[in-house]
Amino acid sequence: MLLRNACAGRIVKSGAVRSLSTSWWKHVEPAPKDPILGVTEAFLADPSPEKVNVGVGAYRDDNGKPVVLECVREAERRIAGNLNMEYLPMGGSVNMVEETLKLAYGENSDLIKEKRIAAVQALSGTGACRLFADFQKRFSPHSQIYIPVPTWANHHNIWRDAHVPQNTFHYYHPESRGLDFASMMEDIKSAPNGSFFLLHACAHNPTGVDPTEEQWREISHQFKVKGHFAFFDMAYQGFASGDPERDAKSIRIFLEDGHLIGCAQSYAKNMGLYGQRVGCLSVVCDNEKQAVAVKSQLQQLARPMYSNPPVHGALVVSIILGDPELKKLWLKEVKGMADRIIGMRSALKENLEKLGSPLSWEHITKQIGMFCYSGMTPEQVDRLTKEFHIYMTRNGRISMAGVTTGNVGYLANAIHEVTKSA
Ligand code: LMR
Repeated sequence: MLLRNACAGRIVKSGAVRSLSTSWWKHVEPAPKDPILGVTEAFLADPSPEKVNVGVGAYRDDNGKPVVLECVREAERRIAGNLNMEYLPMGGSVNMVEETLKLAYGENSDLIKEKRIAAVQALSGTGACRLFADFQKRFSPHSQIYIPVPTWANHHNIWRDAHVPQNTFHYYHPESRGLDFASMMEDIKSAPNGSFFLLHACAHNPTGVDPTEEQWREISHQFKVKGHFAFFDMAYQGFASGDPERDAKSIRIFLEDGHLIGCAQSYAKNMGLYGQRVGCLSVVCDNEKQAVAVKSQLQQLARPMYSNPPVHGALVVSIILGDPELKKLWLKEVKGMADRIIGMRSALKENLEKLGSPLSWEHITKQIGMFCYSGMTPEQVDRLTKEFHIYMTRNGRISMAGVTTGNVGYLANAIHEVTKSA
């Protein structure tokens, strides 16, 4: 029997076919571990009963257990048996998107009334950022993105994979463990007019350092002077102060000043819908016609990537936010989560002080949101893991959501041990 050799196009006798390629993927090296999710993998592999995970930003109750909010349980009870499995439109759930915009832009937002916001359901905050980065590349192909130093590690991956060049701006001041406002403003002023900036709307990840209201006003003013575009990643609305309205202040200040912003929203943290991947991308436009065009382009970007977003989590969100009683319950539960974290901040600081730590730990309670940017070095973090089975990212970020009354003493003692001779 004669066969055609696929690679060389030669006719050869059966049994004598010699493959030219022995392996398609031999050049592929293992990817480096993700600096955040890799910590969870290492934690899970550790058999020690003492182990503590303060790596990933995922809320735990005071027993260290994942939490499903009561409002979510109730929404699921209402869905049970009533959900068909039809596709959502490319732009996702219209109800969910409408409710989500109210959280960011305000219940009585004129922009919403005037239909000036192009918005689509996104695969949580990451998906919203990625969709925006792809949109930026397609419609502002020569622009770059200014990213704060430091930022959530995945921001770099997102804009890199969308082929948008990255630049940085000063944000964190290591000595004061606070905001480097002067350098940040300098960078905003010296960036070319009309630059794109990535801003964390609240509860900055990883530092827990947010500008004050007054500072946001100055930032917004300077953005106006320079004609910059602000893209807000709002992954923690409600987690900073316990009140989603208050946590949207930065965005509201920019809107008052007439900025046409972009915004990524996520329900991973504030509704505990981590694995459901529910979020929203919105872009404020000049008018309704432009918003229709922008939305159609966002949908067109989504279509070849994932076609349309998943339905279940979006329905949970729209049921909760569409029912005044359930929304009230949600607000109470968000506040409960934020308050537990605030309590753990004080407990960690007090424990370190009681141990006689020679260092100042004021920043633990000054910082806000899910994370404490402790100031520990990568080597100190490595010691925490090796000697105490405590898992956290090597930049010294502690996920305060993983701290409990049961482990705070152990954690403080371990931190004291690795930092006391620093
Ligand atoms: C984090 O920063 O830990 C979270 O946002 C989870 C993630 O996907 O990185």
